[in-house]
Amino acid sequence: MSDRGLELARDKMTTAGVAPAAIETFTRFYRLLESGETGLVREDDVEPLTGLERHADLTFSAADTAEALSRTAIIKLNGGLGTSMGMDRAKSLLTVRRTAEGEDLSFLDVIVKQVQAARAATGAPLPLLLMNSFRTQDDSLAALARHDGVGVDGLPLDFLQNREPKLRADTLEPVEWPADPSLEWCPPGHGDLYPALHASGVVRALLDAGFRYASVSNSDNLGAAPDGEIAAWFAASGAPYAAEMCRKSPADVKGGQLVVRKADGRIMQRETAQTHPDDMDAALDASRHPYFHTNNLWFDLEALAAELDRTGGVLELPLIRNDKTVDPTDASSTPVVQIESAMGAAVAVFEGATAIEVGRERFLPVKKTSDLLLMRSDVYDLTDDFRLVAQVDAPLVELSGTYKAISRFDERFAAGAPSLRSATSLTVAGDWTFGADVRVVGDGVLADAGERGRVPDGATVGPSGITA
Ligand code: UTP
Repeated sequence: MSDRGLELARDKMTTAGVAPAAIETFTRFYRLLESGETGLVREDDVEPLTGLERHADLTFSAADTAEALSRTAIIKLNGGLGTSMGMDRAKSLLTVRRTAEGEDLSFLDVIVKQVQAARAATGAPLPLLLMNSFRTQDDSLAALARHDGVGVDGLPLDFLQNREPKLRADTLEPVEWPADPSLEWCPPGHGDLYPALHASGVVRALLDAGFRYASVSNSDNLGAAPDGEIAAWFAASGAPYAAEMCRKSPADVKGGQLVVRKADGRIMQRETAQTHPDDMDAALDASRHPYFHTNNLWFDLEALAAELDRTGGVLELPLIRNDKTVDPTDASSTPVVQIESAMGAAVAVFEGATAIEVGRERFLPVKKTSDLLLMRSDVYDLTDDFRLVAQVDAPLVELSGTYKAISRFDERFAAGAPSLRSATSLTVAGDWTFGADVRVVGDGVLADAGERGRVPDGATVGPSGITA
């Protein structure tokens, strides 16, 4: 049954002109999927990663940081489709802030402005390259074109990642969806960075243009602005690869972590899905595994080029099985499996890979609409160099299922995000539309009113609901 699935999927990719490295990567993962491979990493086989150097303690001179930045390229992963927020295009095109002048800035606008501010401050050329997918390329490049001087001579503004067929969950054959055949395809996760870099020749182009390092991060993490100190630290380390890690707080129950493999002392990534149920308590114990992975990575482009040449772009990364529906906006459409992999899993491939502890300011991911509400609120200030800086501890925001999809969320917050600076949490049950200038204080709660409710302009929401 499933051999036929693999054959059909390979044919479909070949006909569509998908790069050979991507077809081979897909084939390897397909076989892992078929064999029920779980990639479990047992706690007994690893040591925790501890005692990292801290970004906050680095003391490089301005000359060192400028020198390292002058040889650094900025790569943003922009191929994902934001399906968790009911989207089928780049999350980075969403408005994340309105400036004091009333200008709406998307994630991509902020990224461009962060890079331009760093260029202006240091004189470094800092080329910005997006990794786009078939669904994010056109509108993301159009968004970049609205800014002057983004490109760096001789280098592309983006490179395209691959696409692969979504597989029917019942047969593992490529799904057919005549209503919209483009939904039969998906990007293969950000582990596709490696085949995509290989096929595009971007690493070689950067080396030829005199660049030596790449700082790679998610386009939905505006915390990962260009950073001269980390660049200088990475250059001085001589390591081929480095990951930025955050220290867990007691509230963090995060799975993605790095561990040290006892067998060979190499650092490897362990996702929640790779953790045995019996090891879950140990894996989540912050006193044992103190850091989580931010997905902000640094590469020595020489080492990366060597690895891509050696493997033909097919790195041996663990499989991530992602269960979705063929139409991400319709939960009742055909169940599919998407074969994915994670960029950070490549840490085990690079001998001498290292890691650094960074502060929370480098990790501001937007995975859910509640994250977006926080970013749009007064919890964060936008600095002159376009960094988002938390003014208070971020309150815990929980929105009901009504707000899960971005379209419904936007409708209900069309008048702007409420003030959350005096809130310790905000819990919204049911369906509420927020008026302008709403303020949340303490543990703000809106109970399910059984029908669509409205929080009036200028109201205060506290522990007992709307109070003024
Ligand atoms: P996420 O894990 O948030 O995935 O991506 P996503 O695809 O954006 O959203 P969901 O899961 O569909 O809701 C983290 C970062 O990796 C990029 C995304 O664009 C985001 O910046 N990414 C993800 C890619 O570049 N390619 C992919 O195939 C997947």
